[in-house]
Amino acid sequence: MYKIFIRPLLFCFDPEKVHYFTFSLIRFLNKIPGFSGLFQALYEVKDARLEREVFGIKFKNPVGLAAGFDKDAKLYQELSNFGFGFIEIGTLTPVGQEGNPKKRLFRLKEDNAIINRMGFNNGGVKEAVERLKKNKGVLIGGNIGKNKVTPNEEAVQDYEICFEALFPYVDYFVVNVSSPNTPNLRELQDKKPLTELLQTLQDKNNSKPNQKPILLKIAPDLTDEQLLDIIDIVNETKIAGVIATNTTIYREGLQSENKSEMGGLSGKPLTKRSTEVIRFLSEKSNKSFPIIGVGGIHTAEDALEKLEAGASLVQLYTGFIYEGPQLIKDINKALLKK
Ligand SMILES: Cc1cc2nc3c(=O)[nH]c(=O)nc-3n(C[C@H](O)[C@H](O)[C@H](O)COP(=O)(O)O)c2cc1C
Repeated sequence: MYKIFIRPLLFCFDPEKVHYFTFSLIRFLNKIPGFSGLFQALYEVKDARLEREVFGIKFKNPVGLAAGFDKDAKLYQELSNFGFGFIEIGTLTPVGQEGNPKKRLFRLKEDNAIINRMGFNNGGVKEAVERLKKNKGVLIGGNIGKNKVTPNEEAVQDYEICFEALFPYVDYFVVNVSSPNTPNLRELQDKKPLTELLQTLQDKNNSKPNQKPILLKIAPDLTDEQLLDIIDIVNETKIAGVIATNTTIYREGLQSENKSEMGGLSGKPLTKRSTEVIRFLSEKSNKSFPIIGVGGIHTAEDALEKLEAGASLVQLYTGFIYEGPQLIKDINKALLKK
């Protein structure tokens, strides 16, 4: 139904406007008595065989919503009715910021892809915390970043502020140093600053009575050498795992006329590379830490490939836009058939 009736209509309008319109629609529909139950009945697959225990957390199924869709934790409750096993909110920064000037989100229809240069538009971590206080049992990942105006030398403080504020309200953390849309952010993926950043957060974590898993989200554009560094850093700082991958700055084999827009490319053109990164990390680390696989999952087979390459869980973003909530169900059903 989504691909035949809803998507063609939504794809007639500006992508960012459609995003906010869909948000309001999902919220509105979920307020009508019976609708949240209807969505659950349509899309949720409840089965003990789908449960996964990863970095000490029990997931009801391994299919999550990737960061960036519900940046401000405004819709996680309603989104979980579509059958997601977990929802990652953020990227959140200490202070709210506008992000880059519009237009900054582009649909590449012929390529089943999106280019975005949103630039961490969000209302700030404090507002999100207020919303998370009302959580009725959704498993939440908290994806954190730095404000655009914060120089890289002071970035650690921004991550610490977000970490402290979110600590009681999220189940795991994601340190995002891989967005291509905040100037110089990806330099924080270099060995020295990254080790310092993760060690500082891990020290903070260790000072708490109960620790929360901290994961690192990486770009698909790292070289093999940089990926080997990442393995060293994860082992050295003893963080819980890695999310692979964020969007890519590379443009290869694209058909759509707006393929040269600046920003991060996501969706189908990313499928192969992000799976390669997962396989490389898994093999070279001897599976010493869990990986959440994300990037270009548009079919159940795409998800299974990522799990076979070494991912313990998967996340969707662009595939959710193109395929709709049926994709979540398809993946869970395919897992049960295996
Ligand atoms: C519009 C948009 C905004 C995004 N914002 C964020 C973000 O704030 N933080 C983050 O870690 N990833 C963000 N991402 C990246 C996704 O979480 C995901 O890693 C990437 O899109 C690859 O997955 P996909 O091909 O399924 O979309 C964003 C992606 C899109 C398309």
